[in-house]
Amino acid sequence: MKATDIILRDHRAAEDLFETFKGATPDAQEVIAKDLFDALATHEKMEDKHFYPALEEAAGDDPAIDDITGEQTRLEMEVMAIRAMSYVAGESEDRIAQMMDKVLAHAREEESVILPMAEELLSAERLEELGATMEPDSAVANAPE
Ligand SMILES: [Fe+2]
Repeated sequence: MKATDIILRDHRAAEDLFETFKGATPDAQEVIAKDLFDALATHEKMEDKHFYPALEEAAGDDPAIDDITGEQTRLEMEVMAIRAMSYVAGESEDRIAQMMDKVLAHAREEESVILPMAEELLSAERLEELGATMEPDSAVANAPE
């Protein structure tokens, strides 16, 4: 699978997980929230380790990449801070919903700005090769059953 398709697949899975979270009982929400935090952390790590270095190598210094990776780092810290708080039904749900609004907006920006850039700058062969490296580190490949 192409690197860009692996990123899209992880994003859709995070959206699905968030939808499941919203529809769950408070007890189930606490468990799903952990899966959601794990999925986001795994996905960020995969992008930071494989995808962005490969894109930066091809694109050189590009402010659009700096913007999105900077935002990604800030969001990662926010997610970690929320994860560290003890879970309180209702209160945590609101906090996580606000966090996910930002995370999903970030994902959409990645999809509209960064993925087209990668499709343009990296050859089809390179995207496949990069995708194969990313796959075992993706959120979907590491999701609990
Ligand atoms: Fe992403």
